[in-house]
Amino acid sequence: MKKLKLGIQISGRGSNLQALIDACADKDFPAEIVLVISNVADVEGLARAQRANIPTLTLPHKTFPNREAFEKAIDEAHRKAGVELICNAGFMRIISPYLINQWRGRMINIHPSLLPAFPGLDIHQRVLQSGTLFSGCTVHYVEEAVDGGAIIAQAVVPVLPDDSEDRLAARVLKQEHQLYPMAVRLIAQGKITYQDGKVIRNDMESMCQNGLLNPAIHS
Ligand code: GRF
Repeated sequence: MKKLKLGIQISGRGSNLQALIDACADKDFPAEIVLVISNVADVEGLARAQRANIPTLTLPHKTFPNREAFEKAIDEAHRKAGVELICNAGFMRIISPYLINQWRGRMINIHPSLLPAFPGLDIHQRVLQSGTLFSGCTVHYVEEAVDGGAIIAQAVVPVLPDDSEDRLAARVLKQEHQLYPMAVRLIAQGKITYQDGKVIRNDMESMCQNGLLNPAIHS
């Protein structure tokens, strides 16, 4: 089976990276990780990649004269590794139009809210303050608007009356770990494609029947 080649970008813990590593360990999973890039040295995510024998590269953003130079190095590394899809997994840098233009429609991100609600940072705190009854996570294409690209897949979790930020974050994270591999699978299988800033769902009926767009409601 020809596998989609993934380049993962991280800045820290790497639990979503781990979910993707675990998914790729299944010989029938239609994608493989060929490179992990971190902008922070010595993070847990790099150790996870090394344990799985995945090539890693640390590119500390502060060592570059400007954002474009940093992103040029990222771009070159992905190309050299043969990457076909970049997956941001807790990559804590704003991505500029330079890199977005090189990878538009081939770069995705996971965000711990039901976008377009609660983009940005301090998400769980803002969700709790808002009084909303549901939260969740979103996998989306990366566009210039931060957390604003076309939505690929989402999972929903309840917000409970006695929730703390940590409890809500943990409930959402559990769904992230199912959602990200699922979204990558849909893209690798061609069930989701990107066209002119929009997501095209090529197999919508079976996706809905199988709960593929929302694993949470089936778990
Ligand atoms: C996740 O909540 C992800 O949605 C957000 O950053 C966090 C990264 O966690 N973008 P991890 O590094 O994957 O454990």
